[in-house]
Amino acid sequence: MNQPVPHLGTLANRVKDRLIQQAIERRSKSIDQEAEASVSSPLSLNTIPQKWTRFDQHPGYQRYKLIKDGAQKIGVASPFFQEFDSVSSATIEIQGKTLINFSGYNYLGLSGHPEINRAASAAIEQYGTSVSASRIVSGERAIHRELETKLAQIYEVDDSLVMVSGHATTVSTIGYLFGPRDLILHDALIHNCAVEGAKLSGAKRLSFPHNDWQALDQILSRCRSEYERVCIVIEGLYSMDGDFPDAPKFIEIKKKHGAFLMIDEAHSLGVLGQAGLGIKEHFGINPRDVDIWMGTLSKALASCGGYIAGEQALIDNLKFAAPGFVYSVGIAPPLAAAALSAIALLIKEPDRVKKLQARGNYFVEQTRKHGINTGLSCGFSIIPAITGSSLRAARLSHAMKNHGINVQPILYPAVSEKAARLRFFMSCDHSEEQIDKAVSALALEWRRI
Ligand SMILES: Cc1ncc(COP(=O)(O)O)c(C=O)c1O
Repeated sequence: MNQPVPHLGTLANRVKDRLIQQAIERRSKSIDQEAEASVSSPLSLNTIPQKWTRFDQHPGYQRYKLIKDGAQKIGVASPFFQEFDSVSSATIEIQGKTLINFSGYNYLGLSGHPEINRAASAAIEQYGTSVSASRIVSGERAIHRELETKLAQIYEVDDSLVMVSGHATTVSTIGYLFGPRDLILHDALIHNCAVEGAKLSGAKRLSFPHNDWQALDQILSRCRSEYERVCIVIEGLYSMDGDFPDAPKFIEIKKKHGAFLMIDEAHSLGVLGQAGLGIKEHFGINPRDVDIWMGTLSKALASCGGYIAGEQALIDNLKFAAPGFVYSVGIAPPLAAAALSAIALLIKEPDRVKKLQARGNYFVEQTRKHGINTGLSCGFSIIPAITGSSLRAARLSHAMKNHGINVQPILYPAVSEKAARLRFFMSCDHSEEQIDKAVSALALEWRRI
């Protein structure tokens, strides 16, 4: 039974938020229970429950409606799908206003860079906007191999391949390489793409506590022998928390138990290491000790698409069989050209990485001075301000906009409710003055909301 939400007009914000939150949680549970309830009698066309024939009764839609209606009741505007009018860099434009921007992963300020725009335009002139086929059948262009060769050089491995989406790259790679007799063991905070890939593969999927290589070791000591292949999946820099794993320890464990190690470098390439070459540079590890390097072109590399780098057998295998590569179009020429040009700039202008790291450090130091919970952030490029409530995060994001600052809230179910937060992405182009302004506004609203 749904309990009614009391009249909200006269209650304080904090109490209202709590009541709405509780109502949402109760109703959310009952949506799950209703979705799981089975129908016992044999079905005829007339007795098929509506929940199986109508999208407005789909549990996902009901949950969406619930949150939307709850937010409306307390007057919180939706933070989603706002239209911006410019490149997302240290600033961003919306309806004629310029905001200081912390909501894009243009870490090195390369998206919108004239050199990259020119490279993308030249690729369009030469090849058009689409290669119009899967690469295996007529979609191959020289620029694809150029990009893959460069990525393989960066990772100091045999080869790499590029797919049209970072998310699809992981889903397709894990989904293809592993099967029902295998085990995927991932960090509890791993990105959704690894979870979806594991589901697709049919392998057993287990998570271990965040960054806890000792717990991972224990799990593998207990159950390694029950599986054929085992793949450990971690991130180079965690996308929600901005911290990183002790990669050498994970390599030790994967060797000890005969497992593969996959590292998602989405937020690590261009950010970690003196030259921005990612977690391998940060720790000085042997790149061949990691079996599957994965990354996206959509963050520091100012483009769109994903890559896998590793030994030749891995890359050849994926090139001839991974569904997201074989049955999907080749990456668009301007996107390949943009990523190639971004790699060239990353190498030519290492100061971008130094500046990004300095700005991230400065931001996290200043924020912590105000007692704001920045969680595990190591101050590179991702800094959360953990509010512990989705509604509070949404209110805070809205209030920041009134100070001329664009920062997105991360709400349940993207993170657990108590981990709801604002997430600040840094850019090397942020000035200290912009950071000071953002931190002062955050501290003020943090106390107020
Ligand atoms: C850790 C991680 N992996 C993979 C992806 C997917 O990459 P893309 O957005 O380029 O598809 C993301 C996206 O944000 C991510 O944060």
